[in-house]
Amino acid sequence: MSQLLQAIRGMNDILSGDAELWEQFEQTIRDWLAAYGYRPIRMPLVEPTALFVRAIGEVTDIVEKEMYSFEDALNGEQLTLRPEGTASCVRAVLQHNLLYGGAQRLWYMGPMFRHERPQKGRYRQFHQVGVEALGIPGPDVDAEQIAMCARLWDDLGLTGIRLEINSLGQGEERARHRADLVAYLEQHQAMLDADAQRRLHTNPLRILDTKNPALQELVNGAPKLIDYLGEASLKHFEGVQQLLRDVAIPYQINPRLVRGLDYYNLTVFEWVTDQLGAQGTVCAGGRYDGLVAQLGGKPAPACGFALGIERLLALWQEQGHRHDAPVVDAYLVHQGEAAGRFAFRVAEALRGRGFAVHLHCGGGSFKTQMKKADASGAAVALIVGDDETAVNEVSIKPLREGFEQPVTQYRVAFDELADTLGELIFPMEDDNGSL
Ligand code: HAM
Repeated sequence: MSQLLQAIRGMNDILSGDAELWEQFEQTIRDWLAAYGYRPIRMPLVEPTALFVRAIGEVTDIVEKEMYSFEDALNGEQLTLRPEGTASCVRAVLQHNLLYGGAQRLWYMGPMFRHERPQKGRYRQFHQVGVEALGIPGPDVDAEQIAMCARLWDDLGLTGIRLEINSLGQGEERARHRADLVAYLEQHQAMLDADAQRRLHTNPLRILDTKNPALQELVNGAPKLIDYLGEASLKHFEGVQQLLRDVAIPYQINPRLVRGLDYYNLTVFEWVTDQLGAQGTVCAGGRYDGLVAQLGGKPAPACGFALGIERLLALWQEQGHRHDAPVVDAYLVHQGEAAGRFAFRVAEALRGRGFAVHLHCGGGSFKTQMKKADASGAAVALIVGDDETAVNEVSIKPLREGFEQPVTQYRVAFDELADTLGELIFPMEDDNGSL
């Protein structure tokens, strides 16, 4: 026998059970986004490599070492599996001139690809829900996006996710800070690790984000970007904070929060939990007012965030939540050729009336079929044998407790089956005529 092929490391199957949890989560997401007036958009999984290099920045972990890039064998184009959605979303908005129609509130959901070292909460194919507001400059939309997240945690019953915020100011403010930061770090150059040495003149702000314990003291003493912010940047930051206070959303200002993508300015934020180990950031984002122009559009302000679905669902389970596995209403067992054809018709008729029906396929004795019916979690077994088929009737056997109807097996005419089942399975709904 040939060897079994395995999925690529860091790229996971999501099996039934989990997949149903994902679907339930996705429905919550859709309802939540609709309540804030966001509309869906779907972008391709593959984009020109240049899009991400330009948007995310050349000297970032993602672009330097995490992108799945390849040459199109047919035409030699450089392509990349999307490592995130913001760049694609802005590209799509510009390509289709969506901003001519006014501000856009858009969201997307789907797989992203980063060649990181896989570990708990960090995968090479992972899934994000991305939320982007384009064309709106004020701090209100930043604060509203943060408040949206808080509401989602509430909707999902999640607790213990803390909010960290910071302001990255504007380009010229960062440039002044950068000059002082580089001078400071140069004075301590001998202490820097290889990564920091490399970043010293390319992306020194990212050194502030280092996880290396040996650098913490040095980084703590470094010039803080917040001290370089001008009046307008401070006003924007204060505006965000005021609105957060107004709706009682607690936050911490983390002056070292710089984000791993270069397109941000002004507000940045991360939602972090301590319950998932090292990969505790479940959601992150901020303002990126320069990106639209950087990708060739007429300048337009923008802000957004993305949440990591794997991490959020892991936290949801970690906090003791369980979802109900979906079950069918009826499991239909049958034996004999004529009965098989009758059962097929019965199942289709019931589905036409809105019932979820598992038609047993593959034969087997009544006994083994009934075992499967029991294990399926269905409310009732429907039984069709030669006797029933001859008189156009179906036997009903309730399988679960809690019905007001008799618990033994009984027969009903095919024509009355849907109504009888409705009364049996959904007695309340029947009262208001919804069946
Ligand atoms: P990001 O911080 O790179 O931002 O990713 C956002 C979230 O995606 C993270 O907080 C995390 O929950 C999840 N995530 C990232 N990488 C992985 C991974 N390897 N495995 C599992 N989950 C992961 C962005 O991607 C920006 N596009 C967010 C944004 C939207 N900013 C403005 N608009």
